[in-house]
Amino acid sequence: MTASLSAIHADITTLAVDAIVNAANTTLLGGGGVDGAIHRAAGPELLAECRTLGGCATGEAKITRGYRLQARHVIHTVGPVWHGGSGAEADLLASCYRRSLELAVEHQLASIAFPAISCGAYGYPLDLAVPIAVKTVRRFARLDALEQVLFVCASDEVLAAYRAALR
Ligand code: AR6
Repeated sequence: MTASLSAIHADITTLAVDAIVNAANTTLLGGGGVDGAIHRAAGPELLAECRTLGGCATGEAKITRGYRLQARHVIHTVGPVWHGGSGAEADLLASCYRRSLELAVEHQLASIAFPAISCGAYGYPLDLAVPIAVKTVRRFARLDALEQVLFVCASDEVLAAYRAALR
């Protein structure tokens, strides 16, 4: 068996999955975009746990509980800021997906939902980020240990990009 991959148009904070992934920053102390939405929905206990984690490097991931969310856990990852693609942006973005999946498997989680990491405030072009997201998940060595991977899209444009990449 291998995990099913699909794209949905939804607010990631509403999903009853084992883990939602947060597109955080290196402080892990909250921010705007999906990060702000997750902290608002999870409540102040999430920030309190994040304060104990000592931040997170770009391309890495750390896991917390989900508190008031439907999701049992939050996997916080830090995507790269887009600087034109000449740096290590693509490798770092792929690492975010891989490290998040590795944490999910380590914690014996079956379902995980990703937002479009780096595609908002961090400026990563959608048409470049989406194929990296899909390819990295498809190639993940332990996909058999998971049941469901969701790509959660905040707009029709993002949804269309994922549907095209998944075809
Ligand atoms: N559900 C699903 N997707 C969402 C939601 C939501 N509730 N809200 C936004 N998105 P961004 P980044 C989409 O900016 O580019 C924060 O301040 C959004 O439309 O949240 O990785 C952090 O603290 C976009 O497609 O994350 C960092 O400082 C995608 O999520 C910085 O922003 C990612 O947009 C991280 O920037």
